[in-house]
Amino acid sequence: MAQLLITGGAGFIGSHTCLVLLEAGHQLLVLDDFSNSSAVALERVAELAGVRLQRDQPTLRAAPETFTLVEGDIRDAQCLDALFASATTFGQPIEAVIHFAGLKAVGESVQQPLRYWDVNVVGTQRLLSAMDRHSCRTLVFSSSTTLYGYPDQVPIPETAPIQPINPYGASKHAAESLLANLAGCSGNTEPIQASEGGWRIARLRYFNPVGAHPSGRIGEDPNGIPNNLFPFITQVAVGRRPQLTVFGDDWPTPDGTCIRDYIHVMDLAEGHREALHSLLNADPQLLTLNLGSGQGASVLDVVKAMEAASQRPIPYRIAPRRPGDVAITLANPTLAAEHLYWRTQRSLTDICRDGWSWQQANPQGYIRQT
Ligand code: NAD
Ligand code: WQD
Repeated sequence: MAQLLITGGAGFIGSHTCLVLLEAGHQLLVLDDFSNSSAVALERVAELAGVRLQRDQPTLRAAPETFTLVEGDIRDAQCLDALFASATTFGQPIEAVIHFAGLKAVGESVQQPLRYWDVNVVGTQRLLSAMDRHSCRTLVFSSSTTLYGYPDQVPIPETAPIQPINPYGASKHAAESLLANLAGCSGNTEPIQASEGGWRIARLRYFNPVGAHPSGRIGEDPNGIPNNLFPFITQVAVGRRPQLTVFGDDWPTPDGTCIRDYIHVMDLAEGHREALHSLLNADPQLLTLNLGSGQGASVLDVVKAMEAASQRPIPYRIAPRRPGDVAITLANPTLAAEHLYWRTQRSLTDICRDGWSWQQANPQGYIRQT
């Protein structure tokens, strides 16, 4: 089993993936600056996995244990060097990195493009440079459906044109391009391609990750007013917000609201495990895979499913369309099924049951929990 560095491991997707990787027997070093997360998430992951969470400095004072947390910034080259070097000194070199750390709010990226390029592009570049210096050349990268912009076809295959429509998407595109270049490939790569320089890289394009671990102990905890549909709906259900605003009921869809490919965060976490194992057991290669269900749900489908799960009404009002929205996005998940033998297992009903368990048990998220 491998020693892994998980950047952004305290976040929504990272925390669930940490749990799945610990359960698979891996040893994890998490690097997070807590700019959008809480260490409590990792304490709970440790509790669920039955391991101890050790906190340390980038220059490790003790050998990494099963689950070690280091507070730091992916843009800090010294911090990264100290972490890679210390792990090696203690005889436990980092074999692979799963890189979640980044900023992800589309609207904020329009207001703060410099910050988004700094964290998502410069941060990724610093991480890759440190990996290269320390001869660690296996990486799983968090990419996004946002790269497809206004898609020309749905379900969307990995070969669809890349046409980001906001700075967040542009920053993910730049990071993806850097990864392709590192692997000796041009921008127009095939989804599965041999790579150069020993690099094993998976660029995973997530669709709409939602839900929570079924225990209700870990889940999504956005700062402030949620931008995304699912956490907004769970906060309405729990009474934190009076009603949902539905952005448009005049879209060319059966009920007039937008359709998305919602993927349970545990399915997504398992997809990371499979991608990592595939890379560790393969020749150097660059993989580019959609992680989605291929199933669509409209905004009103999600409202109804959450009403059923919570046994509470979700009041909503219809408002004009949100700028930048797309009527329908759906993954074509065939390639991940063929290459990783992975497909989603959980339904919208499961997503709402687990998302509701989390929100009901943690109405204010992690921060104000005792
Ligand atoms: P999140 O905000 O919950 O997690 C990101 C984590 O990275 C947080 O713990 C944050 O504190 C940390 N972080 C941010 N900047 C950092 C820095 N400079 N140094 C160290 N740590 C830093 O987000 P998430 O939903 O878990 O997303 C994880 C990744 O997946 C992101 O890269 C995001 O762009 C990508 N992604 C997310 C979605 C989604 O809808 N949630 C969809 C597609 C892709
Ligand atoms: C879903 C649907 C809204 C909020 C985003 C990012 C994308 C990726 C996944 C990171 C849309 C509607 C929403 C609300 C609503 N993230 N909605 N009322 O926009 O599909 O994708 O997350 O990579 O890049 O853009 O997700 O959850 O914001 O919206 O009616 O209060 O819900 O209009 O139709 P989106 P979302």
